[in-house]
Amino acid sequence: MTDPIRPGGDSAATIEAHGLTKSYGKPAVRVLDGIDLRVGRGTVFALLGPNGAGKTTTVRILATLTEADSGTARVAGYDVVADRSAVRRSISLTGQFAAVDETQTGEENLRMMARLTGQSRAAARRRAAELLERFGLTAAARRPVRTYSGGMRRRLDLAAGLVGSPEPGVFFLDEPTTGLDPRSRQELWEAVRELAARGATVLLTTQYLEEADRLAGRIALLDRGRIAAEGTAADLKSRVGGHRLDLVLTSQEAYLRLAGRAVHHSPETLTLGIPTDGSAAQVRALLDEIDPVGREIERFSLHSVTLDDVFLALTSSTPTPNGPTTDATSTSASTPDAISPDAPTTPEASAHV
Ligand SMILES: Nc1ncnc2c1ncn2[C@@H]1O[C@H](COP(=O)(O)OP(=O)(O)O)[C@@H](O)[C@H]1O
Ligand SMILES: [Mg+2]
Repeated sequence: MTDPIRPGGDSAATIEAHGLTKSYGKPAVRVLDGIDLRVGRGTVFALLGPNGAGKTTTVRILATLTEADSGTARVAGYDVVADRSAVRRSISLTGQFAAVDETQTGEENLRMMARLTGQSRAAARRRAAELLERFGLTAAARRPVRTYSGGMRRRLDLAAGLVGSPEPGVFFLDEPTTGLDPRSRQELWEAVRELAARGATVLLTTQYLEEADRLAGRIALLDRGRIAAEGTAADLKSRVGGHRLDLVLTSQEAYLRLAGRAVHHSPETLTLGIPTDGSAAQVRALLDEIDPVGREIERFSLHSVTLDDVFLALTSSTPTPNGPTTDATSTSASTPDAISPDAPTTPEASAHV
């Protein structure tokens, strides 16, 4: 087999994108506003963002299902527009809705798909059995897919993306665990880890911070069509200072005055979290600065930051006096902030959460 990486491409990256933009509708609404991505060979990369952030659009461009308005992308060394069919041969795309026939068994589905890739009857049977085993579906192999649980369906989808031989080296998993119960999610995580352990490059999208943290070596926070931050989970956490000082305040007025600096809000309990390095000196200085006369802070506590804090800090907006923001992921699309002042503000961008 020839090496698909060509001169001029980035030989250490399996997926690279530069300045991808995409608009939909009339008047045009920009849903991707200049996306740059670089995913190293044999790594798991998470594109993390709320509903409407542009995750699926990005994946569809990389998987050649739609074209960007501007920008370029290469997958496995091939240009997604000029070398579309070479890209398609190199990838597997698993969405939330796969082309599985509900009335047939898992085994029948996989065998049929393997046959469609040109394998002999015997090879297709072997391949199906192998994949059913690998994804823990052997016991359910002879049952119609309509009787499968959500987790079993998702694993069958993953298997379906692998029936070709040789297996593709690049996997796009678009929200592979959305809607799954915790146990099924764990099983899918295992399957993804196994893919990566075999040397595959995986780009997955998720709305779950924990998932990105657990699975991905690198994470990009996608917020209204832009990458708000990118790095390892540790890199991202260090951007908000490592610790969070949670304050319970005595008045709405103090809450509103401080909310702009917070990475965590709860107007019901007048609680907010302020980023800090956690040192005694800084915590003492913060408490003095925030509440010089000792009347506005009722209680405080110190926590290690989570990816949730990072996400909120990098994508959230400042609460307004007539409606404090409690959850940036549900309102960010309609509230401009410093990160993307000209981001789309269509209702559909915020309506799904
Ligand atoms: N084919 C389309 N036509 C019009 N608008 C679209 C289309 N696809 C996506 N959008 C809009 O683009 C935005 C981003 O969508 P999407 O990429 O699906 O986000 P995500 O996968 O992060 O939820 C949303 O506001 C969505 O409504
Ligand atoms: Mg999506």
